[in-house]
Amino acid sequence: MLFKQQALLRQKLFVLGSLVIGSVLYLVARVGTLDRLQPICPIESRFHPPEPEQIPLRTLQFKRGLLHESRKGNATKEQIRLHNLFQQLPRAIIIGVRKGGTRALLEMLNLHPAVVKASQEIHFFDNDKNYARGIDWYRGKMPFSLPHQITIEKSPAYFITEEVPERIFKMNSSIKLLIIVREPTTRAVSDYTQVLEGKERKNKTYHKFENLAIDANTCEVNTKYKAVRTSIYTKHLERWLKYFPVEQFHIVDGDRLITDPLPELQLVERFLNLPSRISQYNLYFNATRGFYCLRFNIVFNKCLAGSKGRIHPDVDLSVMTKLQRFFHPFNQKFYQITGRTFNWP
Ligand code: A3P
Repeated sequence: MLFKQQALLRQKLFVLGSLVIGSVLYLVARVGTLDRLQPICPIESRFHPPEPEQIPLRTLQFKRGLLHESRKGNATKEQIRLHNLFQQLPRAIIIGVRKGGTRALLEMLNLHPAVVKASQEIHFFDNDKNYARGIDWYRGKMPFSLPHQITIEKSPAYFITEEVPERIFKMNSSIKLLIIVREPTTRAVSDYTQVLEGKERKNKTYHKFENLAIDANTCEVNTKYKAVRTSIYTKHLERWLKYFPVEQFHIVDGDRLITDPLPELQLVERFLNLPSRISQYNLYFNATRGFYCLRFNIVFNKCLAGSKGRIHPDVDLSVMTKLQRFFHPFNQKFYQITGRTFNWP
């Protein structure tokens, strides 16, 4: 009798357990399916393209889905036609400055549902061979996007290359130009560190930063050294101002983008006339990495590659001070022109 009752109880427990496990499995499967069934492009947008003011967050899913494929050239002709996708010339370009945080800025702006990034540096305007290929070649390098989205590319060499302002002006005289700057001496050391790493990878030796930055004959700052020249921001900007009014530039504080990116990104959103969509949710500090990383949604987040955020070599303090003194008057001029002041020494 007791044995029979026990068997009955076991049977009930088994049925109950199966029901619970079954329900859980069903729910998991359903959530998974729902996820997969989420429209990669909101149907309504095909008929009523949303105003920038009302960009649905679903566009973000769209970006992570279809556009990612199309960027890799995997979008079918049908998808392109159905979703009214096309390759648009950039309406904003991050023109520099090298090592200012150009990649972080591009990736962070790409969190915005209305922004689509060209992943690679295209080097169209600074490279004569590419430039000779023509504007259709350039457009062909752009990702697919929806009509209301804006495409952004970054090629930091644009800022310092003589011919570029005129070439960009010829393409679009009202284009928006973004320049991200860091304290000039730190930027120069960062620039040096990148080159040094390249040499080390090839088992080559390289000079010390101090020997490159200071002219051994005069003991003055070596203005022929490219890492020094690039950090004279005002000199380069003045060339650009021959073509574009200062209002068409927005200066991003690259040092603040490292420590507190959101306010900088919000300023860029405003400059680009985009509704504010990037939020603190999209940015989280990764202690291991020592930098802010990007959160697109509950499942997709990423940090920048390890080549961003290298450890700089120790540089002789007197050399650092000499460089800071050298950059000081140029910085003052830069503040004056741009209307943006930094706490640089
Ligand atoms: P360091 O390597 O000197 O630290 P660019 O993309 O223009 O080459 O700039 C590289 C710099 O971006 C890095 O310089 C790093 O400090 C900075 N940076 C800003 N935000 C970052 C982030 N969230 N993750 C990694 N690097 C970031």
